[in-house]
Amino acid sequence: MGNTKVLGIMGSPRKKSNTDLLLDAALEGASQEGAEVEKIAVYDLQISPCREIYACTRDGNCPIRDDMQSLYDKLSRADHIVFASPIFFYGITSQAKAVVDRCQALWARRYILDTPKEDDRIRKGIFISVGATKGKRLFDGAVLTVKYFFDAVGVKYAGDLLLREIEGKAQIREHPQALEDAFKLGRKLRRF
Ligand SMILES: Cc1cc2nc3c(=O)[nH]c(=O)nc-3n(C[C@H](O)[C@H](O)[C@H](O)COP(=O)(O)O)c2cc1C
Repeated sequence: MGNTKVLGIMGSPRKKSNTDLLLDAALEGASQEGAEVEKIAVYDLQISPCREIYACTRDGNCPIRDDMQSLYDKLSRADHIVFASPIFFYGITSQAKAVVDRCQALWARRYILDTPKEDDRIRKGIFISVGATKGKRLFDGAVLTVKYFFDAVGVKYAGDLLLREIEGKAQIREHPQALEDAFKLGRKLRRF
């Protein structure tokens, strides 16, 4: 039994901005509780969109050779996942969505190939998002996508932090409470 591993997935193309800073705060919280944390910025990776080949329904593996291959491993090994993306057109960014769609391979392992669970870990996922506007349904689409993504990966949707009216680069710095909330959410991951 090693340390709890927490994987953070940063879905914004804008580094050191709102999503990135909130994710950093959450990972810092988890780290303070003793978790081993890793952050992946999807913008740094070459991840092709799903090409609907359906090879994954035969053996659970995606034949597209790109950076998603190492991410499958990280997603499966992590105890908990923090998925962070700003809202782009009422959904997550296309970079983050490419990761989600490629997890069809993990969905296939679980629901088509009935691959047995390797362990009894209770794995949790949290979703962090920001958007510029303030509509009531701003996060509805993204939350639904992330719920099904977490289900494919085998983690339970355990909470989220969804922040409206944040638009400028790193504007979240003007909202220390939001960063504190992200930190606290990360700290809770250790105790789930
Ligand atoms: C292509 C694009 C689409 C966007 N679509 C929305 C949207 O539908 N609703 C919204 O409230 N904000 C939208 N935004 C604004 C971003 O969500 C907002 O600026 C956010 O703070 C960016 O976070 P980041 O700095 O972490 O990338 C959009 C921004 C871009 C670039």
